[in-house]
Amino acid sequence: MSPDRSPKKNRLKRLNIAFALLSITVLLFLLLAPEETTTPLPVDEIHLPFHRITDKKEAETHCQRCHGPTGEAPLPDDHPPPYRCLFCHKRDG
Ligand code: HEC
Ligand code: HEC
Repeated sequence: MSPDRSPKKNRLKRLNIAFALLSITVLLFLLLAPEETTTPLPVDEIHLPFHRITDKKEAETHCQRCHGPTGEAPLPDDHPPPYRCLFCHKRDG
């Protein structure tokens, strides 16, 4: 064994431990992250047709008719930017 090998090995070992700790942290973070809580797309007479439209983008073109500013059920002022409804309001959720 040449004398300069063992410090190198030690550094590798420390890197491995650091990596393991990082992995555990990330895993814990993912496990403890809050569940998705956004209301899913309702399953009722009104919304049933939009569950059947396979293409999300196409289904979303219908939402504004009622949930747009002049619709019967406008979005509240504090609603997040409503570009892709079904990314947040999941179907079959
Ligand atoms: C024909 C009108 C109409 C259309 C079109 C429509 N909605 Fe609605 N939506 C309503 C009404 C009325 C309510 C409130 C009563 C209810 O929950 O059904 C509502 C409620 C909701 C709610 C809230 C449910 C809750 O529990 O607070 C969400 C989320 C929603 N709609 C999403 C959508 C999305 C996404 C689309 C497009 C895919 C859509 N809606 C299309 C009329 C409509
Ligand atoms: C970035 C995520 C996101 C997007 C995109 C989004 N929403 Fe929402 N929406 C929310 C959140 C968060 C709430 C608050 C209530 C909850 O947790 O469901 C909400 C609430 C609602 C409500 C209930 C409002 C009430 O009076 O209680 C309706 C209806 C709704 N959204 C419809 C839509 C429609 C229609 C679209 C597309 C045009 C859309 N949302 C896009 C996140 C989103």
